Amino acid sequence: MCGIVGYVGRAEAAPILLDGLRRLEYRGYDSAGVAIVDRGHLATRKCSGRIAALATLVAKRPLSGSFGVSHTRWATHGKVTDENAHPHFDASGKLALVHNGVIENYQALRDDLVRGGDTNFRSETDTEVLAHLIGKLYDESCASTVDVHQKKARLFAAVRAALQQVIGTYGIALVHADVPDFMIGARRGSPLVLGVGKDENFLASDVSAIVAYTRDAVYLNDFDIVAVERDKFEISSLAGESGDHQVSKVEFTAEDIKKGVYPHYMLKEIFEQPDSVRDAMRGRLSLEECTAKLGGLNMTPAQLRDVGRIVLMGCGTALHAGRVGEYLIERLANIPTEVEFAHEFRHRNTPMTPETLVFAISQSGETADTLGALRESRRKGFRTLGICNNVASTIARESDGGVYMHAGPEIGVAATKSFSSQVVILTLIGLLFGRMRNLSTAEGSRVIEALEALPEQIEIVLKLSDQIKAIAKKYADVNGLLFFGRQFNFPIALEGALKMKEITYLFAEGHPSAELKHGIIALVRPDLPSIFIAPDDAVFSKNLNNIEQVKARKGPIIALTSGNGVNQLKNIANEIISLPAAPDCVMPILTVIPLQLLAYHLAVELGRDVDKPRNLAKSVTVE
Ligand code: AGP
Ligand code: GLU
Repeated sequence: MCGIVGYVGRAEAAPILLDGLRRLEYRGYDSAGVAIVDRGHLATRKCSGRIAALATLVAKRPLSGSFGVSHTRWATHGKVTDENAHPHFDASGKLALVHNGVIENYQALRDDLVRGGDTNFRSETDTEVLAHLIGKLYDESCASTVDVHQKKARLFAAVRAALQQVIGTYGIALVHADVPDFMIGARRGSPLVLGVGKDENFLASDVSAIVAYTRDAVYLNDFDIVAVERDKFEISSLAGESGDHQVSKVEFTAEDIKKGVYPHYMLKEIFEQPDSVRDAMRGRLSLEECTAKLGGLNMTPAQLRDVGRIVLMGCGTALHAGRVGEYLIERLANIPTEVEFAHEFRHRNTPMTPETLVFAISQSGETADTLGALRESRRKGFRTLGICNNVASTIARESDGGVYMHAGPEIGVAATKSFSSQVVILTLIGLLFGRMRNLSTAEGSRVIEALEALPEQIEIVLKLSDQIKAIAKKYADVNGLLFFGRQFNFPIALEGALKMKEITYLFAEGHPSAELKHGIIALVRPDLPSIFIAPDDAVFSKNLNNIEQVKARKGPIIALTSGNGVNQLKNIANEIISLPAAPDCVMPILTVIPLQLLAYHLAVELGRDVDKPRNLAKSVTVE
């Protein structure tokens, strides 16, 4: 977690760095800082709080200079204080470092430094230890050097030597007061991208920070170190080898990451779903063959046919999409499918049969837990594919193939459009595998029709926003919420509860409806509404029984339903949200949207910071 931005060029660095940090604030936002070198003097401003607080500080005490580094933090080691905010400095105070990740052996490194006489530590962070170590190695090697080229080479060598001692993960950027117009970046486990401009270059945790300045980017690999100057850059590996790095075009523009007319990114992203769902299936449906075409899987028809088991891995919302995927793939393709928390998969001994195909699902493509699981699965020799949104993200690059979501940047910390895109892609996967097996052309074309109808149906669901807002106002003083669904909509109950927890901070739980009577019903009371996802499908009558059970115990009921369900529930539910009819396998894409809107409107009603909920960060790059 955390965002890094670095700049070396001819313009004033401060506004560029602050602008970049604002774009990365979704990654972490407990404190922020910036360090800029001006004519051999390193100046810094840092404070706890949001980027706005840092911007105020910089406005009061401006910084000048055309190269520097900056950071927005999500604390892992050390409290949220001004001192612990990055950048951190070496003992001489001349080197400034920003870091994303965790230096696991920081205590041992610190003890060594202290034994060598270095006691000048000013923070509790793991990061500061790395800054001191690099500074020490540089000072030792550079004591009598005046030549600027030598200084650059020695600083680079010091970074390499220090990183060779590090156990843990890092994306770093650093500058040194004595080495003009020069910045070094390196990564292992945390993302870092180089933005290539004209007479200026950038480093950032993600391209959204720099896309307003350049759309040419080089995505660094683990163990890369890059020396960055105004007009050139040089990348080599930790071991000293130079690698082959291509400059790629960023596929979105600065316009795409603006809020536009919406008060929050989350609302914008909810309303983008007709388009993002369309984009997830664009060019991937074959009406003629009644199947899906997913060339990115890099598998021949024979290899596809040989798949006998599927494992879907992810965390949070991506995991919930996987849970819908389990129902989908088993229904459409009859392939045994399991869903695994990525972090659990990685450390437990999941039995894997040779014909297993693994999918890692991740919006960001950078989630450390999911990346760890992907690596474990590949290490064991299983074909492991990615379902990612961020193009060229680590998971996308390290997998054996996959399917991009093409949902566009998702900035709101609460995932919304990425979920519906993931479910669309899992439907395409189910369709593809189904049509390799026993799904008939008629069944295949029914799935395609249902998918193609979705964007218009989503438009209809979005029109319910005002009704849902009114419900949110009415229930704003509840003590928590329960979410229930069956079959395809059980994972939607989980996802509805997660959205609610994340942005309203209310207690919320999701369960299969039938679990109520096995314990949860003890919670039912008048100030705890139950949200039932009960479309008019094969299990409607079962859901109806559960709804009656809650009603009998005076629990308020908010029902999401469709078709005949509206009539059947009108005298039972306190609120009815009426959805368009759709086959059960695509219904989750319609039922999740009212729950996203309910969480959103309730959070706004409660005055929460919707796009940046407390304690969270968008991209979880620590384990
Ligand atoms: C979703 O609202 C959450 N912010 C979180 O659970 C998220 O889905 C999870 O951290 C996984 O992220 P990823 O899709 O980027 O891997
Ligand atoms: N471990 C570092 C810290 O706690 C960096 C955390 C981050 O990635 O923001 O300060």
